[in-house]
Amino acid sequence: MKAILCKAFGGPETLALEELELPSPSQKEVLIDVYACGANFPDALIIQNKYQFKPNLPFSPGGEIAGIVKAVGEKVTNFKVGDKVLALSIWGGFAEQVLVDSARVFPMPPSMSFITAASSLYTFGTSYHALKDRGQLKKGDTILVLGAAGGVGIAAVELAKLMGARVIAAASSEEKLALCKSKGADYCINYSNQDLKLTIKEITQGQGVDIVYDPIGGALAEPALRSMAWNGRYLVVGFASGEIPQLPFNLALLKGSAVVGVFWGSFAEREPANSLKNFGELLNWMREGKIAQPIHKIYSLEESPMAILDLMERRVLGKAVVQIREEPPMQKNTTKIAGTETKQKPIDTAISSKININGIADIKNHIGATAGPTKWLKLTQTMINDFAAATLDFQWVHLDTEKAKQFLPGGKTIAHGYLTMSLASQFFYEIIFIDNVQTFFNYGINKARFISPVPVDSEIRLIAKLNNVEEQPNGSVKLFLGCTIEIKGAEKPAYVAELISIIF
Ligand SMILES: NC(=O)c1ccc[n+]([C@@H]2O[C@H](COP(=O)([O-])OP(=O)(O)OC[C@H]3O[C@@H](n4cnc5c(N)ncnc54)[C@H](OP(=O)(O)O)[C@@H]3O)[C@@H](O)[C@H]2O)c1
Repeated sequence: MKAILCKAFGGPETLALEELELPSPSQKEVLIDVYACGANFPDALIIQNKYQFKPNLPFSPGGEIAGIVKAVGEKVTNFKVGDKVLALSIWGGFAEQVLVDSARVFPMPPSMSFITAASSLYTFGTSYHALKDRGQLKKGDTILVLGAAGGVGIAAVELAKLMGARVIAAASSEEKLALCKSKGADYCINYSNQDLKLTIKEITQGQGVDIVYDPIGGALAEPALRSMAWNGRYLVVGFASGEIPQLPFNLALLKGSAVVGVFWGSFAEREPANSLKNFGELLNWMREGKIAQPIHKIYSLEESPMAILDLMERRVLGKAVVQIREEPPMQKNTTKIAGTETKQKPIDTAISSKININGIADIKNHIGATAGPTKWLKLTQTMINDFAAATLDFQWVHLDTEKAKQFLPGGKTIAHGYLTMSLASQFFYEIIFIDNVQTFFNYGINKARFISPVPVDSEIRLIAKLNNVEEQPNGSVKLFLGCTIEIKGAEKPAYVAELISIIF
């Protein structure tokens, strides 16, 4: 396997791509084919031997991966070969394969891409734990986020806003602040040319901020602590500046404020149930499209030292991600929208009527003819998830099976209406046959109506009638097909429309 290796502690320039033997998992380990790996500030620290975890040399950096299980140890019962997973490997992720303790591996939501899975858990996990568990953020609180366009910073901006806070984002450039604005920041401070303490005083009309979220430490810590409101919480998240601030304790006394440490990795280990609860809440927000980690750039495995260098040189807005393998193709037959084949034959002979057209001149002879019903097709959760991934429509009614059990009639998720509709192409292959023409494709829709929701695992089928044809000046012919998609066992159809196809 190929891997980026750190053979001696130092900067990213010392890292090299090497060929290694494929490792095999010990009893509780999982071997994962890595598809993507998020780059995080600890990668810069670990290769310099400045991080709290200290692997033996040589090792690969990369602590946040998403991929597919390749092999499992004898005592691993919760994962099997082929499962899509994300994992907090701590190191080892900038490689084609990585071994991870099974306790650090999590199932990946089926509709999520590997890039998203490898770039969201760490930053949102850290910032949500910081704001919710450590900062006790309440609706209406004012929060100052330092380093607000970095990985954990931008996650804190978006989450704080979602949780009802008034957000002051502080960063070193206008470009970084524009990103913060796009994620909901109410106020922005450019600390490379504005005085932090004075500007906070102006914004808060002398009240100060309830929470400081500090992932950078250094010289900004003291003015930030001096800008706190009574009963405030100063969240110590990290020291990206390289400097651990030494602060006068009297400030905490005078402000009645708490200086609160945040260590997400330890929280996840010591309080796994709370950590999983947070994880579930974050995934729901991601599915609902309420939060999304902005991606700065996608790097190849060979380029991964550059991802770390970009982090160290403060060039990254949001998240840097290393892509090791291409996303696998979507499942077949899920979201076919237009057909171009003319001679596909049906497999199911139970279809009651078909339309057989032989050349353009024959089309008019079939006006009024019906085709179908087709054979039944089951609409599975995988098809719905894949459709959601393709259209970015992650509404919970389609995806969240647990919530659906509680709130939806019948307790089942519902297929997207447009997914049901787009299956018309697939059905046409079974019932309409056109020979001796150059091409045939689906072109448009008239008078479409979604009538009954289609719960997951329903079986649907299509009946079509050739309502009319229209010759076009370029020699092609438009077919107007009245289509009904039925649901097995349901009184009313899922969908009725007139679909337009074109034949050349
Ligand atoms: N406590 C925890 O559980 C936990 C979890 C994850 C991460 N962390 C820590 O949080 C910090 C941020 O991590 P991250 O992944 O979000 O990093 P990041 O994406 O690189 O963001 C860090 C931000 O810090 C600012 N910065 C100021 N001085 C810097 C310097 N000398 N070098 C680099 N950046 C500097 C930069 O913003 P400006 O240019 O706008 O100043 C940068 O955007 C790190 O120290 C990391 O170890 C802690």
